[in-house]
Amino acid sequence: MAAKILIAFYSRGGATEALARAIAEGAAAEGAEIRLRRARELASPEVMARAPGWAESAARMNALYEAPSETDAEWADAIIFGTPTRFGSVASELKAYIDGLGGLWFQGKLVGKAGSVFGATSTTHGGNESTLISLYNPLAHLGLVIVPLGYADPALFKAGTPYGASAVVNGRDIKEPSADEMEVARFQGRRVTRVAGALAALR
Ligand SMILES: Cc1cc2nc3c(=O)[nH]c(=O)nc-3n(C[C@H](O)[C@H](O)[C@H](O)COP(=O)(O)O)c2cc1C
Repeated sequence: MAAKILIAFYSRGGATEALARAIAEGAAAEGAEIRLRRARELASPEVMARAPGWAESAARMNALYEAPSETDAEWADAIIFGTPTRFGSVASELKAYIDGLGGLWFQGKLVGKAGSVFGATSTTHGGNESTLISLYNPLAHLGLVIVPLGYADPALFKAGTPYGASAVVNGRDIKEPSADEMEVARFQGRRVTRVAGALAALR
C-alpha cells in the first residue's frame, strides 16, 4: 500500500514551496500518495502589500494548493512541515495550522505517524537549524515519530541540515534553492515515505 504523505507548508516568496515540490518528487519516486497544502496568510493585506511580489506570490500559490486541514493530517501516514524562518523560528501561518491540530492530539490520532520538517532562510546562519529544531517540539507533543535526515545520503555533505532540508534564498542574488538543496529535499521525500510505510505497517 502506498504511504500517504501530507506536505504542509507556508511560503511567501516561493523558496519553501520549491523545497516542498522537491520533497513531493522524492516521495512520488517511492510510490507515495501526496497532498501538497499551503497554510494561508495571517499577515494583513497592508503588510502583504509592503514588499513587491508578496501578494502576487501568495495569490499564485493559493490557486495551486488547498489550505491544510485536520482531515489531511488524519489521512496522512506522514506529515512533513515546511516553513520560512521568521526571526529564527517557525512562521505563524504554519504554526496556526499546527495549533489547530489540538483535537487530533487530544484523541491521540497522530501518534506513531512519521513527522519531518524543512525550511528556508535568507541568510546562511539566519536560523535554518534553529527553526527546524523548534519545529521538533510540536512534533514530539503530537506523538509523531520524528524523521531527521542525519547524513544518510551524500547530498547532506553538500547542502541541507541533519534536521531537515533547507535553502538560503534572499530574492535578490539568490532567487531559488540550489540544485544541491533540492537534492536533499528529494532525499527527504524518499526517506520519509519509506519510514512512513514501515510505521503504517506497525500501526
Ligand atoms: C518577518 C520576517 C522575518 C524573517 N526572519 C528571518 C531570519 O531570522 N533569518 C533569515 O535568514 N531570514 C529571515 N527572513 C527571510 C525569510 O526567511 C527568507 O526570505 C525565506 O527564504 C523566505 O521563504 P519563502 O520564499 O518560502 O517565503 C524573514 C522574513 C520575514 C518576512
